[in-house]
Amino acid sequence: MKRVAILISGGGSNMLELLRDMAEGGYAEAVLVASNDPAAKGLEKAAAQGVPVAAVDHRPFGGDREAFEAVLTRKIDATRPDILCLAGFMRILTPGFIRRYEGRMLNIHPSLLPKYPGLHTHARALAAGDTEAGCTVHEVTAELDAGPLLGQARVPVLPGDTEDTLAARVLTLEHQLYPQVLRRFAAGDRTPVHLG
Ligand code: GAR
Repeated sequence: MKRVAILISGGGSNMLELLRDMAEGGYAEAVLVASNDPAAKGLEKAAAQGVPVAAVDHRPFGGDREAFEAVLTRKIDATRPDILCLAGFMRILTPGFIRRYEGRMLNIHPSLLPKYPGLHTHARALAAGDTEAGCTVHEVTAELDAGPLLGQARVPVLPGDTEDTLAARVLTLEHQLYPQVLRRFAAGDRTPVHLG
């Protein structure tokens, strides 16, 4: 059974779907949920499910990403994960961190990559007049939001959509896509999953 660590920064709804699917499918075990924000709501939710949690506040480190990551890495490595899932983890990672987990680190991003890497993806899709939006799971490599595609899900943009209504529609798809990709990845299959 694969050992999976999950990094979050916020509410952790994707993380909860991963926990649910791992428990249901029995193909992997969640060994850690960690956050850069001690107040992240997802930490309590993970702990309530009996998953070990850790918080490493990035703020005391100022801009020293390496020092922050050194502490985070110790927490992660202590749990010996086979796979690291970024699920709404909102810190830029250094090349050293990425190299350490390369080939076993996944990320979910709320756009149809390669469109809209970075932030404010839904606002940018609406401003561009796009007729479809979606989300992507990819392997994490040195270039931001650009690693090999592992899954993509598409939804229509509807007349009258706002950033919030579009984000909510995409999030529902994220919850379907990420567990399906993790199942495949844990089985050693990197064929992309396509939904919608
Ligand atoms: C999700 O929409 C995820 O795709 C996005 O943050 C949200 C986290 O929600 N991630 C990024 O923007 C990464 N750059 P959650 O905490 O409820 O899973």
